[in-house]
Amino acid sequence: AVFKEAYAEQFYVGTALNLVQIWERNPAASKVVEEHFNSIVAENCMKSMFIQPREGEFYFKDADQFVAYGEKHHMHIVGHTLIWHSQAPRWFFSDKEGNDVSREVLIERMRSHIHTVVSRYKGRVHGWDVVNEAILDNGEYRKSKFYEIIGEDFIPLAFQFAHEADPDAELYYNDYSTSIPAKREGIVRLAKKLQDAGVKIDGLGMQEHHGLTHASLEETEKTINDFADLGVKVMVTEMDISVLPNARRHRGAELTDTAAYAKSLDPYKESLPEDKMKKLGERYVDFFKLYVKYQDKISRVTLWGVGDADSWKNDWPIEGRTDYPLLFDRNYEPKPFFEDLIDLTK
Ligand code: G3I
Repeated sequence: AVFKEAYAEQFYVGTALNLVQIWERNPAASKVVEEHFNSIVAENCMKSMFIQPREGEFYFKDADQFVAYGEKHHMHIVGHTLIWHSQAPRWFFSDKEGNDVSREVLIERMRSHIHTVVSRYKGRVHGWDVVNEAILDNGEYRKSKFYEIIGEDFIPLAFQFAHEADPDAELYYNDYSTSIPAKREGIVRLAKKLQDAGVKIDGLGMQEHHGLTHASLEETEKTINDFADLGVKVMVTEMDISVLPNARRHRGAELTDTAAYAKSLDPYKESLPEDKMKKLGERYVDFFKLYVKYQDKISRVTLWGVGDADSWKNDWPIEGRTDYPLLFDRNYEPKPFFEDLIDLTK
């Protein structure tokens, strides 16, 4: 069965891509991408650190290939991400002496970055994650460099600059843990503010990096509804489900033997036992049931990677850990529950 065909009436089904998955030497991965997905998002190559590593020096080679690939396969192409506190090069915020730049200078740098990147792909990238992860779990603004130097205006400014560069592109705000009530409310407040100020915002992205027990389905449902009530598209932008214990908890622990520690985080050694696979499948089915229920509100569901070997979760938070969070395994074979997801739209 073909994923994108099964969901053709519901929403786009997408995957995050690094070029490694579409290189000729990785035919198994690109076969899956081309067969099953009708939308792609740039996992890394459009982040400011990669695309403008030094001021005024743009590196477009990878992003060009990414966009050309999407066009060749008639996909809905999403750019990720214009303004993000993480993976932003240090020069962005500093002068030659290493001090913070002024508000005016940072705004100018934002303008120049966004205008240059968005206009290069005008009419070709259909939607942009304009601002990523600017709200904390408690609903307050993240105290990032953008926030500290510019204040909360950096968000409407980013949307304004993107709109100037490509008036037809869809513009999104994207964040994780959006099912946490305080965070959800913070994002709703932010979106309302943008709308009240006449700033164009077309969608809200729920990243959906889940585990077997978090996030709560009930709270996720509330978020879908609250976001949709704003009159914007709701999208699942970075879905994966980890079967391993939440490793964040171990952060900061004294590590004497990192290799042993990494191993202890992955007791399954690259082959998931049946009961865990079953649990993973049930979780995926539960979430997809919800997405299907709200198919009128949800415009896209994107997985954060193609096969397990590609996942960022493998080396997070420590190199050497493996995880199994995606729909396709390390050989790019669909997991046993793949057919259950297909059946949901029958
Ligand atoms: O490309 C460089 C390579 O040249 C260098 O030698 C190597 C050494 O560290 O790093 C490579 O860059 C890595 C990059 O992925 C590309 O593979 C970075 O270190 C690594 O930090 C980066 O991780 C990405 C992470 O975002 C940080 O940007 C993950 O692949 C990516 O999946 C992850 O995605 C984020 C979303 O953008 C936002 N939401 C959360 C999500 C998961 O963290």
